[in-house]
Amino acid sequence: MRRVTLIPGDGIGPEVTAAARAVIEASGAQLDFETAVIGQQAEQATGSPVPPSVFESIERTKLVLKGPTYTPFGGNYRIRIQRPGADGKMEERSYPSLAITLRKELGLYVNLRPIKNYPNVPSRYTGVDLVIFRENSEDLYVGNERMVDVDTAEGIKLITRGASARVARFAFDYMKKVGRRKITIGHKANVMKMTDGLWLKATQDVAKAYPDIENDARVIDALCMELVIKPETFDGLLLTNLYGDIVSDLCAGLVGGLGVAPGANIGDDCAMFEAVHGTAPDIAGKDLANPMAMILSAVLMLRYVGEGEAADRIDAALSAVLGEKRAITRDLGGSAGTKAFTEAIVQKLKKP
Ligand code: NAI
Repeated sequence: MRRVTLIPGDGIGPEVTAAARAVIEASGAQLDFETAVIGQQAEQATGSPVPPSVFESIERTKLVLKGPTYTPFGGNYRIRIQRPGADGKMEERSYPSLAITLRKELGLYVNLRPIKNYPNVPSRYTGVDLVIFRENSEDLYVGNERMVDVDTAEGIKLITRGASARVARFAFDYMKKVGRRKITIGHKANVMKMTDGLWLKATQDVAKAYPDIENDARVIDALCMELVIKPETFDGLLLTNLYGDIVSDLCAGLVGGLGVAPGANIGDDCAMFEAVHGTAPDIAGKDLANPMAMILSAVLMLRYVGEGEAADRIDAALSAVLGEKRAITRDLGGSAGTKAFTEAIVQKLKKP
């Protein structure tokens, strides 16, 4: 039995992770869960937003299913944790959000986000089927910034050849493994000649070792425009951390919205699966969240641990429920709640 660390998260997190767990359990996958609480609740109970017991759980399982976690806007909010440094001595490290804390501390350097049309999920487009590879460890997104004075703020955009090449190798290897054909590298090297220039050079250098996979490059703003005009022409997108964050939501919008876009954070020996969406405070606790993105993140997790058969069964059950159009959540034009939608999938899985 493979163990998973389950982080319910905040807002709609507990509702959508409970849905994903119920579906995994009904699929017959050989997975066992241990729940770990992070954030404000953990801080109140233990004094730390990510207590050592959470890291211990993840070090044991090397596998995390995570609900979204809350981060306040603005101010100087930081997540502060005590962990051993490179020399083994305890040190304090701080990050702008819980999700970034886990991605950085666990060495999860790739954020993988498949985007595709699902049958009966309303969308303006058809034929969209692409994979986003987002660099997950550096760039402006890690929040290395400071107030210079009360009217001036600055942020550091750090790009390294090593991290750029690492995510590029993952992306090209993945495309080769799953039989995809082309990667488009997004950048703004015409203006950010050094940072994005280095990103472009490092990723294109890696591309040379993969003659079977086509590659091209687009300035990020033009890429966004092309994505909304002809998204079906893209196959793989390789993006820096901040552009990847923004373009992921744009692409979720191409196929039905944030309720349907799953994601995985992957490192060399550990992986964390979470939806693209956040805590959705406007609908939290109301049985209104679409758990599909979280369930599809669980499907990615099942494939990652070699439970492909259970993953296929869940995919089929989900498609069947969408196809019947009886239990559709509100964001997709239906009126079913989170629980009713989940139960419909569970019932499909239970049928022989
Ligand atoms: P959000 O993704 O939570 O919500 C944006 C809009 O999409 C809202 O109208 C929401 O109701 C809707 N939505 C999101 N997920 C949905 C679902 N499953 N079903 C139906 N509707 C859904 O983004 P927002 O409001 O910018 O962020 C809220 C909080 O979430 C912030 O504290 C933010 O930092 C956090 N967040 C956390 C992430 C993570 O832990 N990985 C990722 C993104 C945001």
